[in-house]
Amino acid sequence: MDRPPKQMSAAREIGVGLLGLGNVGSGVIKLLEDNAAAIVSRLGARLVVRAVAVRDAQKPRQVDLDPALITTDVNAVIERDDVDIVCELMGGTGLARDAMLHAIERKKHVVTANKAALAVCGEEIFSAAERCGVDLYYEAAVCGGVPIIRALREGLASDRIDVVYGIVNGTSNFILSTMDADRRPFDDILREAQSAGLAEADPSLDVGGIDAAHKLAILISLCFGATVSVGDIFVEGITGVAPVDFDLAERFGYVVKPLCIARDRGSAIEARVHPALIPRSWLLASVSDSKNALYVKSRALGSSLYYGAGAGMMPTAVAVLSDLIEIARNVQSGSTGALATRSYRKLVPRPVVPAADLSSGFYLRFGVVDRPGVLGTLTTILGRRKISIAQVIQEGPRDPERPVQLVVLTHEAREGDMRGALADIKAGDLILEPPVVIRVAR
Ligand code: HSE
Repeated sequence: MDRPPKQMSAAREIGVGLLGLGNVGSGVIKLLEDNAAAIVSRLGARLVVRAVAVRDAQKPRQVDLDPALITTDVNAVIERDDVDIVCELMGGTGLARDAMLHAIERKKHVVTANKAALAVCGEEIFSAAERCGVDLYYEAAVCGGVPIIRALREGLASDRIDVVYGIVNGTSNFILSTMDADRRPFDDILREAQSAGLAEADPSLDVGGIDAAHKLAILISLCFGATVSVGDIFVEGITGVAPVDFDLAERFGYVVKPLCIARDRGSAIEARVHPALIPRSWLLASVSDSKNALYVKSRALGSSLYYGAGAGMMPTAVAVLSDLIEIARNVQSGSTGALATRSYRKLVPRPVVPAADLSSGFYLRFGVVDRPGVLGTLTTILGRRKISIAQVIQEGPRDPERPVQLVVLTHEAREGDMRGALADIKAGDLILEPPVVIRVAR
């Protein structure tokens, strides 16, 4: 272990109060210990954990911690005079929001990994920090250990971003890329992701796309200076994707990825989270396992890609600790409260493009009745809605007992038109099971 050498023990101490000691909190404690000397050399000060608030003080922990530091009283941690920075790692939008606002009122700087709270009540929390003159850092909230927030707010501060494509949920990416590699069923792989500590306490937030929508809302604020209502983001989870979709996507030259897209469309922001077929030639197609990546297209720089570990104990702890170090630097230089973490001085509320007006290619997998004219009827229904077909595959031997798999790849079509066509198809007697619909990004 990399303990601080004796001559450094006189370094100034900056007190940290941790709220939450789950996977990420334990990682922060571990990294603080493991890299203690390196942190002192970089910072010229020591970050010292003064107290840790947990829900259940008796629960066995993943790290050795002096039991005297542990309490179940969140406010007691926040209100300690020797705590300079409150590190919120509880998650959720209730207690966590209240705790952050309380800490800010008590003039404590705040580090959070809480994408949900920032996406849903970020304006309130940022305004409080501005009013009270404290720092609020959140690098771990998006793409875990990939320093994407610093890249967007500092590295690209001079450029104008048009669009971002991202893989921002590690659990979903792990599930789909494992399904691609092994063709194993969904539930089996989800269990593996959970035991690797990737998933949220409620994994439906991951696989249902909400976690990615929260992250996308934060990215939109950083890229476009806009706030959007998370409820308006078009969100579809990955639970409908099956191993067979990888076989079929591969035959068309695609792979299925959990994608999010944000694009500035002038009058509104296009914001969407859904699984998508992306060409195998795209760099994002090789982002596998639980890795995250963000592809950014900006006017002066052109394309840039940010890649790394976006979930899990140590990658997330790296991001949290980088924020603690940044605030400690500000404390030392007397420059706290500069609101450096806002990418724009004022965020402007902007509408989201309605889902019906989004467009993309579509991959449609139907289980159809095997009888003459079915393909013709189906394509006529699509044609009536101005949906043009790019490719078709029909799979499976003739069997009157079982549906035939008919897979259609369309050219760019409006979401609203596709919904209309699917409703018409479902209303008829052509299909024997609900269709699988996956958008195609090109
Ligand atoms: N559950 C999240 C993920 C963790 O899988 O990406 C990081 O936010």
